[in-house]
Amino acid sequence: MKKYFMAFVLGSSLLTLAACGGGADEDQETTGGGGEFAMVENEEAQQLYQSCIGCHGRNMEGASGPNLQKVGSKYDQSEIENIINNGQGSMPAGLVPEEDATVLAEWLAQHK
Ligand code: HEC
Repeated sequence: MKKYFMAFVLGSSLLTLAACGGGADEDQETTGGGGEFAMVENEEAQQLYQSCIGCHGRNMEGASGPNLQKVGSKYDQSEIENIINNGQGSMPAGLVPEEDATVLAEWLAQHK
């Protein structure tokens, strides 16, 4: 009878520990992982966009180059990446390294 009671107490406290530990880990992964990464990417893209402001305007409103505020509904990410890497019309090619063009294209494609 005593043995059975001990096993029960031990068993349930282990269960409680496992449940608490698991929950905390999951929380950390979701808040630390996805959220921060997306924010950094966005900041990085806005930083990279400094190379484009001269022709496309501070708020993408356009200047000597066209308005880019809804560019995501005109082109998909790979088309934008292609324009940045290869230029188009009087827009020069290779303004930013290709890996930066990927970040910019992903960000611009979200502007619809
Ligand atoms: C020297 C000026 C200049 C700079 C700097 C410049 N662009 Fe352009 N961009 C243009 C011009 C001009 C066009 C229009 C080209 C055409 O179709 O004749 C254009 C077109 C585009 C288009 C297509 C828009 C559309 O509606 O067809 C995208 C996307 C674009 N630029 C992105 C960028 C990005 C991102 C950067 C920064 C890395 C950048 N541009 C830097 C001049 C510039």
